[in-house]
Amino acid sequence: MEKKRILIAGAAGFLGSHLCDRFIKEGYHVIGMDNLLTGNLKNIEHLFPLPDFEYYHHDVTKFVHVPGKLDYILHFASPASPIDYLKMPIQTLKVGSLGTHNLLGLAKEKKARILVASTSEVYGDPNVHPQPEEYWGNVNPVGPRGVYDEAKRFLESITMAYHNFHGVETRIIRIFNTYGPRMRLNDGRALPAFMSQALTGQDITVFGDGSQTRSFCYVGDLVEGIYRLLLSDYHLPVNIGNPEEITLLQFAEEIIKLTGTDQKITFHPLPKDDPKQRKPDITKARNLLGWEPKVNREEGLKVTYEYFKQALNK
Ligand SMILES: NC(=O)c1ccc[n+]([C@@H]2O[C@H](COP(=O)([O-])OP(=O)(O)OC[C@H]3O[C@@H](n4cnc5c(N)ncnc54)[C@H](O)[C@@H]3O)[C@@H](O)[C@H]2O)c1
Repeated sequence: MEKKRILIAGAAGFLGSHLCDRFIKEGYHVIGMDNLLTGNLKNIEHLFPLPDFEYYHHDVTKFVHVPGKLDYILHFASPASPIDYLKMPIQTLKVGSLGTHNLLGLAKEKKARILVASTSEVYGDPNVHPQPEEYWGNVNPVGPRGVYDEAKRFLESITMAYHNFHGVETRIIRIFNTYGPRMRLNDGRALPAFMSQALTGQDITVFGDGSQTRSFCYVGDLVEGIYRLLLSDYHLPVNIGNPEEITLLQFAEEIIKLTGTDQKITFHPLPKDDPKQRKPDITKARNLLGWEPKVNREEGLKVTYEYFKQALNK
């Protein structure tokens, strides 16, 4: 039987590289695409010798051409951490708008099904807790995070328009904080920051008083959710994340315990528009996809810690 062909945009990034691994494992022919804005070829170099993996160095904000048939497209190209999108606001807006437009056009041309990566950031600093997909969000369009939040809100709108107007088969995933091996050490998110601080003997820096909450999903669980959503017949947005909520202060304490460091925690001013609470309502994912997270934080953090130790040669 002919292999299914899937294009993964953002293939050299944290999530994209795990998706390449998963679809190779499932027997697909995988075409990875990336412009290495925030990604690293190290994340996918183990796939280069495989006959069923191809890599295209390409910026998806420019016209995207892929020869041959395509069955599926995953759009995971975008700066994703606050440090990245604050440094690259225009690229972030362009990849969410022009990049999404180009990939939807490709999906239409190839009659491929496309899944686009949205985010819990579309809920902004939410007034509803936990956040169900029906909640419209509380986003400041002109605040510093607006470049990412509004790019993703546009990504959802144009994806729905291609579905409704052109009949393209679309899927929209709203991803909540995800962690695991291949996260960048210096991407500014809490987990890599705390772990690399613990491993290099620096104080653990918590923003605000640390009472703001987050929920962290292990990358293997997220990839399973993406896989199931892609193969489902549901076109409206679906939250995928781990609903177990934790304050950032508790999280810092867990990492101190795991790493056995004796560093102290220091407190710093809260960044502007930092969300106070984040927790997905995953009722839809449970009912539609039979999905829920399986990896608990203790297990997931251990694997991630081993990765960071290696990355820092500790
Ligand atoms: N990691 C999370 O917790 C999380 C949460 C919500 C949403 N997401 C979404 O998932 C996707 C992947 O996030 P990630 O954490 O893997 O980030 P990442 O920065 O590790 O990966 C993004 C990849 O996209 C590539 N890229 C950026 N602009 C591009 C362009 N114009 N053309 C081609 N490639 C481009 C980068 O080089 C990088 O390899 C993003 O769309 C992000 O918004 C991630």
